[in-house]
Amino acid sequence: MSARPGDLLFTPEQHDEAARLLDAFASRYLAGLEHRPVFPPIDRPALRALIAAPLPARGTPLPELFDELERVIVPNSTHTAHPRFLPYVQPSPNALSPYADHVAAVLNQNCNLWHLSPAANAVEQAVLRGFADLFGLPGTAGGLLTSGGSMANLIGLTAARDHALGADARTRGLQGRASPLVLYASDQTHSSVDKAVSILGLGTDHLRHVPSDDAFRVRLDLLAHAVAADRAAGRTPFCVVANAGTVTTGAIDPIDALADFCAREGLWLHVDGAYGALAALSGRLRPPLAAIARADSVSLDPHKFLFCAFEAGCVLVRERAHLRHAFGASASYLTMSEDPDFVDFANLGPQLSRAFKALKVWWSLRHFGTETYARVIERMADLAAGLGERVRARPGFELLAPVVFNCVCFRLTGLDDDGNRRALKALVDGGTAFLGPAAVKGRTGLRACFMNLRTTPADLDLILDRLEAIAASA
Ligand SMILES: Cc1ncc(COP(=O)(O)O)c(C=O)c1O
Repeated sequence: MSARPGDLLFTPEQHDEAARLLDAFASRYLAGLEHRPVFPPIDRPALRALIAAPLPARGTPLPELFDELERVIVPNSTHTAHPRFLPYVQPSPNALSPYADHVAAVLNQNCNLWHLSPAANAVEQAVLRGFADLFGLPGTAGGLLTSGGSMANLIGLTAARDHALGADARTRGLQGRASPLVLYASDQTHSSVDKAVSILGLGTDHLRHVPSDDAFRVRLDLLAHAVAADRAAGRTPFCVVANAGTVTTGAIDPIDALADFCAREGLWLHVDGAYGALAALSGRLRPPLAAIARADSVSLDPHKFLFCAFEAGCVLVRERAHLRHAFGASASYLTMSEDPDFVDFANLGPQLSRAFKALKVWWSLRHFGTETYARVIERMADLAAGLGERVRARPGFELLAPVVFNCVCFRLTGLDDDGNRRALKALVDGGTAFLGPAAVKGRTGLRACFMNLRTTPADLDLILDRLEAIAASA
């Protein structure tokens, strides 16, 4: 029997069946979540078989796919919504995101040119305007939603590079420059900045990792010294990257002082706020973030403190024209019909086809409201403070860094670095809690980052009790 294009579509009955299967899966999964091991024993043969399976010539009925989901995918997945899933900077998703993603996929808008996706374009603009207002950026600001903070940093730094290169940035690139461009970031900066620097052809030898102080904030005196030394050697400083939440300890660089320095030196200020910028939603946590208003570009991650499901990042640039300078494109097959009310996002970033990510961000903000977000983010900081107090109070534990935000770096004092690594592995393999490793100025320990909507203070005691038992048996 010959196949028809309609075979890729569902009848109304099949749609009903798919919706039933999806609903049943989601409620079963979420109901049993806390009783699952947070990091399950991985069935490697099953995953190897999955990898090796040839492309199927014939289709598989939907119930069988859902059955395989329950048998192979779910048992071999980490449970990011589990209350003790606390590694890296990894939130649990808010309840609305999966529904918004579903709607976005049904509508399948391509958010590249406004006339392909007018309403989605307006939604993305609304989200961007809201973020620009949150940070106090001017009306000239523009940006776009991205896959995450790494892409946002890449786009922000591209705009910075091309601004430094000037009018012929796109045609000449870096070829033939006598004076290398140099940029600066603290030694606590996320690796995505190094990656962006190499992708942009700047060379990581031209990224100065300026030492940080005891509070893990960039040393301004050493920054000034490094810039002066580069100028004296004939190089061209062009950009400083400030951290609004360093990936390991959550420290926030002195953004206001960095903005003063950049203004004096004529440097672009990019704030990597992928981790922490959205904490500005909380009046309590906002003060050290207020100077983001002075940045030339800023990265932020709705898939972190807005608890949107992956992927949802964002970059904002003080002057939208800088993004257009770096990314604007024209091609005969893209019939552009510009309209002052709309934005062709394809001209502001590297992607042409773009998903309707803005819907889950917009709906999350509208459904939950910024006041709820402020309380939730504060609660994450309170959980971290609570673990910090417990670590200080319990013999056998010590903090590796002050608790300044929502994460805690600590170690078991009775164990050496290797012992701490083994204790972390035992904790994770045992399925009690998923924490990450902490490497803090040469010392090794464990890191708990609170971004989980189900964590309670009882979980903190449970984690420390378990670690105590692991240390006792080591
Ligand atoms: C400070 C910082 N910058 C950038 C990133 C990269 O963000 P993403 O994982 O969304 O690409 C992270 C991720 O945790 C981060 O903490």
